[in-house]
Amino acid sequence: MSFSFINQKLAEQRAKSLFRQRQCVESQTAREITVNGKKYLNFSSNDYLGLNHHPVINQAMQEGVDKFGACSSASSLITGYHYAHQALESTICTWLNKPRCLLYSSGFAANQGAIQALGETNSVFLLDKLSHASLIDAAFSTKGKAKRFIHNDMSQLSSLLSKHEGKDNIIVSEGVFSMDGDQANLNEINALAKNHHAISYIDDAHSIGIKGKKGEGSLSVSPVDIVMATFGKAIGTSGAFIACDNDIADYLINFSRHYIYSTAISPAVAWATKASISIIQQEHWRREKIEELGALLSTTLRQDITLVPTESSIHALVVGSAAKTLQLSEHLKSKGIWVTAIRPPTVAENTSRLRVTITSLHNTKDINYLVNCINEAPF
Ligand SMILES: Cc1ncc(COP(=O)(O)O)c(C=O)c1O
Repeated sequence: MSFSFINQKLAEQRAKSLFRQRQCVESQTAREITVNGKKYLNFSSNDYLGLNHHPVINQAMQEGVDKFGACSSASSLITGYHYAHQALESTICTWLNKPRCLLYSSGFAANQGAIQALGETNSVFLLDKLSHASLIDAAFSTKGKAKRFIHNDMSQLSSLLSKHEGKDNIIVSEGVFSMDGDQANLNEINALAKNHHAISYIDDAHSIGIKGKKGEGSLSVSPVDIVMATFGKAIGTSGAFIACDNDIADYLINFSRHYIYSTAISPAVAWATKASISIIQQEHWRREKIEELGALLSTTLRQDITLVPTESSIHALVVGSAAKTLQLSEHLKSKGIWVTAIRPPTVAENTSRLRVTITSLHNTKDINYLVNCINEAPF
């Protein structure tokens, strides 16, 4: 029978406790979520700074719709590049101290669009093993070569760079890793890039807004060459940007197919995003809260659960088997807590985990309740 792989693969997923389903969310903040009429404490939101629903951002969105419309009506190279986009780019350039910035419709598209454009025949992508799917898929789809190095292993990265001396090497890593919450060794990546005439490309999806005095992300740690960050997490809107130098920006405008052949993001969203970045720069308490509550979680959780060391919002509670992780997630649900189980292929076999995200809107009582429910769980 044609397409027999569809049912066969679905059956395999179910048998391995890996079958994925969506949940329709009725309402959600960075602290609470309502699903099927039931309210839960939310520990699965990427709205790390609690900015979704912020009245100033909502007002900017409304103002943006009134001034520029909901839709950009064209790609950036036709007539889709509005004043709102230019103003947002300029805000990001000043914030991150980078000469240029380009907006993309999503982080996935930005990674694909930039990496594919940079993948010429002499290019070699050296990617941290835990890099996001959008980076890996893009790097392995170009005319160039792609190699993965062991997670955060700088000596392996260094020998790969030596091995490919003379090539156009591009080091690719996340700033804060999405499923582990740990950080890349940005200073060493940057130094290796400089020593080997390579480019460093950092995906800051989980560091922007969180790291740095004003939430500048990885650039607050090291002056890496290219930074991609999504607006869909700490920034609380949607879309993404790439910040880089003048030559790379001009190159992407001319050769990045996701940039050239896609409708520019909504100018109203761009306007709201600009308002969000202004709040992020000023409201330090949001970052301080995440740090304070993260320390509480890591010092009170029971010892037999492996916690990956983190300085971000993301706390990976590694349980091991997919089935056991699902059970723990269901147990927490029965206690009114929403934490999604993360299983292979998103993470490696036998490292299934609860990915707990702590946001600026949580409080001490929330963390104590979560910890008590996990510590008392029958596992
Ligand atoms: C590390 C990383 N990069 C890129 C993306 C994609 O960003 P977006 O959701 O804006 O497509 C995500 C997740 O969504 C991510 O976790």
